[in-house]
Amino acid sequence: MAEQRAVPSRVVAAERLAVEAGFKKSCIPEVGRLLRMAAASKPHGVVAESGTGSGVGTAWLHSGLGADARLVTVERDEELARRAAGVFAGDDRVRVLTGDWRLLERHAPFDVFFCDGGGKRDDPGRVVELLAPGGILVLDDFTPSADWPPRFEGDVDELRLFYLTHPDLDATEVLTTPTSSAVVAARRQTPR
Ligand SMILES: C[S@@+](CC[C@H](N)C(=O)[O-])C[C@H]1O[C@@H](n2cnc3c(N)ncnc32)[C@H](O)[C@@H]1O
Repeated sequence: MAEQRAVPSRVVAAERLAVEAGFKKSCIPEVGRLLRMAAASKPHGVVAESGTGSGVGTAWLHSGLGADARLVTVERDEELARRAAGVFAGDDRVRVLTGDWRLLERHAPFDVFFCDGGGKRDDPGRVVELLAPGGILVLDDFTPSADWPPRFEGDVDELRLFYLTHPDLDATEVLTTPTSSAVVAARRQTPR
């Protein structure tokens, strides 16, 4: 059990960078373990992340990355991207891009996509299109809702509803802590 709860050394390094940079939007370990599981399920896959931050989520994805898999992440903040790239120096499977999330498109289709900065809100349709058949999408930072359709601060959460009901996705929402949730989805081979 102690082994299971261990935090990978690159995650520790990226968390240290976040503290140094004053960056407070890194994913939590509960999401990190979900990311590791998703990456591990596609040992020959293309694993992508929008919004590298200081590299915490990237490092969790990396901890599940197969020897034949590739990991590409993009961050528009040049300084964050530069620092995060240092965490993965020497591993040819990893590319840290600097710029807008759409730079990821040339690496699609994705077998895993942690959409965490760019795309999630501004172009959700394109996010789904970039998934390979069977590709797994992870979106965190939702607030659990007891209602259907899900609500956030009293209003229907149209964004969450979009992903949860998209005809090309088999999607569900999982609790990551008692007060936070993630949407996890797989792209169908054929639309419903
Ligand atoms: C929630 S944080 C990312 C945290 C990181 N994925 C993790 O798990 O530790 C979102 C990041 O996305 C970046 N971002 C926001 N919009 C972006 C865009 N259009 N293109 C690239 N990066 C973007 C922000 O600068 C920020 O660093």
